[in-house]
Amino acid sequence: MVKLVVTDKDGRDVDVDARPGLSLMETIRELPRSVEAICGGLCSCATCHVLIATDWIDRLPPRRYEERLMLAGSRFFDVARSRLSCQIKVTAELEGLRLTVAPDS
Ligand code: FES
Repeated sequence: MVKLVVTDKDGRDVDVDARPGLSLMETIRELPRSVEAICGGLCSCATCHVLIATDWIDRLPPRRYEERLMLAGSRFFDVARSRLSCQIKVTAELEGLRLTVAPDS
């Protein structure tokens, strides 16, 4: 398992054990006060929006065009931190990742 720290919509830090191979969205959506992920990971709703800790953002794969398009419509978009959690796969390299559920998720 891969240890993550997720700050939920109430500002609480939650320790999460993530299974490699699942997406971040699949990992965190069952938490209380987390992402809604309405489209189920099809990159068509942006309700899985998360803000990645700044020291982690460059360690993630870059945003694809479709992800950039969806995030651009969010009023909480932060060019330095915003990602769609359904577009990021959990890998061992993410051990210790910190992220915050965006208010519009
Ligand atoms: S779950 Fe809809 S865009 Fe990620």
